[in-house]
Amino acid sequence: MRKKVIAGNWKMNNDVNGTVNLISEIKKELNAKSQKADIIVCPPFTNLETAYALVKDSTIKLGAQNMYFEESGAFTGEISPSMLKSTGCEFVILGHSERRTIFHETDQTINKKIKTAVKHGLKPIFCIGETLEEREKGITFKVIETQVRNGLEGLTQSELSDMIIAYEPVWAIGTGRNATPQQAQEVHQFIRGLVAKLYNQGFADQLVIQYGGSVKPDNAKELLSQPDIDGALVGGACLKADLFVKIIDAA
Ligand code: 13P
Repeated sequence: MRKKVIAGNWKMNNDVNGTVNLISEIKKELNAKSQKADIIVCPPFTNLETAYALVKDSTIKLGAQNMYFEESGAFTGEISPSMLKSTGCEFVILGHSERRTIFHETDQTINKKIKTAVKHGLKPIFCIGETLEEREKGITFKVIETQVRNGLEGLTQSELSDMIIAYEPVWAIGTGRNATPQQAQEVHQFIRGLVAKLYNQGFADQLVIQYGGSVKPDNAKELLSQPDIDGALVGGACLKADLFVKIIDAA
């Protein structure tokens, strides 16, 4: 059985003090129920070391929100996989829709990033999702299939053994309008089927597929009870310890 994985994508929120406060509060709020899910926090780069010091003796794992695909060199402003590893990071979010739209990342750049991440032992949280326009045109599955095929191009099952896929419909991110459990389930099932086709059923069956997009304590339970929804990638609600832990408990 797949374990539920709840990750908090802090986006560009919290400085060092804010990080200390939020992680301390999350640790305080966690209870016996929470321990049944895997928990990941993804603060900004500048707070990773601070965050690691606070989570290393707990069940909370650490992730980053992005990474460059080169290992070192003249890439001003970028962060390499070994830099992330050296802070204690275990996961890295790649291909988030904000990276795709605001920072013009393509399927090809994301593919290079996944390749470099896994080479360095970082576990990718690979984000995919359609825009509202694409959903209304009825091309959601086509868009998802292209993102998955291109993003995973040239990667083997063993390289991807620790990958998480996060389905985040762009129209549901930060809008307060989550996908219905049925809408999300339908896409998650499609993704699992596609991974079975590209790799094999056994790999698809153990793959964790998170849903992201306006996940809140009041919709988490129903979303997370769908057969192919194995967790959540939470934005806004992960910035409040009580809300984040309520979502973890719902899992
Ligand atoms: P919200 O939960 O704020 O909609 O953000 C989702 C998200 O983008 C997580 O990566």
